[in-house]
Amino acid sequence: MAKFCKSHIVCDCNQVSLGEIVHAIDSADAKSIEDIKELTDAGNTCGCCISKDDDVNSKKMELYISQILNKFNKES
Ligand code: FES
Repeated sequence: MAKFCKSHIVCDCNQVSLGEIVHAIDSADAKSIEDIKELTDAGNTCGCCISKDDDVNSKKMELYISQILNKFNKES
């Protein structure tokens, strides 16, 4: 994940960046996918950005919300 900058868009549908998701985890104590969805709107449209298994796009995402949560040792 180190290769991604904070401005990297994790959720294309709702234009939510890695920085916004990390902020939700750090500052708002988001612990789950549902928390992230509620706080940032990421994952609330097509859901492809949630995890590799949810990604049904032909163009795959590079980073998923579940990976970010795992990195911060939170449940996903
Ligand atoms: S890419 Fe995140 S909801 Fe569609």
